Amino acid sequence: MAKSAEIIIDGKSYKFPIVEGSEGELGIDIGNLLEETGAVTLDFGYKNTGATKSAITFLDGDKGILRYRGYSIEELAAKSSFLEVSYLLIFGELPTQEQLKKFTNDIKNHTMVHEDIKKILDGFPSTSHPMGVLASLFCAQTAFYPESLDPNRSVEGVYLSIIRSLAKMPTFAAWAYKNAVGHPVNYPDNTLDYCSRFLKMMFALPAEHYEIDPVVADALDKLLILHADHEQNCSTSTVRIVGSSKASIYSSISAGINALWGPLHGGANQEVILMLEQIKKDGGDTDKWIAKAKDKNDPFRLMGFGHRVYKNFDPRAKIIKKAADDVLAKLGVNDPTLEIAMKLEEVALKDPYFVERRLYPNVDFYSGIIYRALGIPVDMFTVMFAMGRLPGWIAQWKELRENKEPIGRPRQIYTGKNLREYVPITKR
Ligand code: CMC
Repeated sequence: MAKSAEIIIDGKSYKFPIVEGSEGELGIDIGNLLEETGAVTLDFGYKNTGATKSAITFLDGDKGILRYRGYSIEELAAKSSFLEVSYLLIFGELPTQEQLKKFTNDIKNHTMVHEDIKKILDGFPSTSHPMGVLASLFCAQTAFYPESLDPNRSVEGVYLSIIRSLAKMPTFAAWAYKNAVGHPVNYPDNTLDYCSRFLKMMFALPAEHYEIDPVVADALDKLLILHADHEQNCSTSTVRIVGSSKASIYSSISAGINALWGPLHGGANQEVILMLEQIKKDGGDTDKWIAKAKDKNDPFRLMGFGHRVYKNFDPRAKIIKKAADDVLAKLGVNDPTLEIAMKLEEVALKDPYFVERRLYPNVDFYSGIIYRALGIPVDMFTVMFAMGRLPGWIAQWKELRENKEPIGRPRQIYTGKNLREYVPITKR
């Protein structure tokens, strides 16, 4: 018998169907709730609200499972490449050799950005955070490709926008960095793979030879895979809600970049390093900082700890911790903040406050440490996250469009004043 849920309001019972996902997840379909009962649900932060049906990413927070299109993150991180994973997320299946070759070449053909983008870049002071610059440049594509604004764009047209997004993202990201340090920009070198191309644009200096370190390029590729999608998180939901108004792919993703920027979301990796440095400067007393994190009168939180959905462990954190060890050993980096990180982790994992609240290190606890070892400056950490998350945002935007989902428009419970009469200013 089909499952259903019953809601009783003022003694009257209403039945709602239960939808079951392919991994047995249950959702009460309250699509007719308002119409039938006159009530809405109230769920701050959408902690219990399924906003869509999606076939892209499966996540089980209790078991620490993350899968893209049915493939485990562990296997993809070990065996795949970022572009292969991007293809998988966006088109639903792993590519054949031919398909991947075409996809890679199509991306290579679009890595250049319009020269006028440089004029926009020049308008930003060097104090601009690279995330703000990235979001702006990404959105500026709507001006250079106005055909992308057409909500009824053909499949080929959408493909071109997808390719342009993936192709130009590393160029925008590297240019945002060059702007911050006041250096001339580098153009994409299409003889290189995706990550190496980005590294060269970011680090090469005029008239100096830049040698790609394969350890660095491989580590970056793995990091991008780990960040590639994470179902309906804050930035992805933002992309979907903006896209639901039939806004273009560029403006929807630009909104996602802005949502990712916040310190509770993608900005956490930057906050982790700033926190570790602060603790080091303060003498390295981890117990003192753990006590601060537990003190409800102190706004300090242990950045890189806790997750909205992972309550036992973050599977990405496990992979990335091992990658951090490997990268630091291979590059011979001796980072004193890493020792503080390990001490914090050790203490927090035993402390009842963190144990009871099921607060574990998340992906951002370690990603910042790797980025630092790769020579990437702190302000660029969230930009790296955005580069990784791009195929996920694209896949979610495309799915929403193909499923013809309605415009996102939540309800509210109004708690303000009831109707009152206007009082002229002379009488107030
Ligand atoms: N340090 C100290 N206490 C914490 C922390 C922390 N990092 N995280 C949660 N808590 C406490 C919180 O004070 C609350 O305690 P109480 O029940 O006594 O009021 C309890 O744990 C539950 O916290 P919450 O804020 O209700 O949990 P949430 O699911 O709404 O928030 C979170 C999840 C990730 C925003 C939060 O854990 C946090 O702020 N962590 C630090 C920021 C961070 O590392 N963010 C990166 C997330 S991973 C990357 C991504 O996917 O975006």
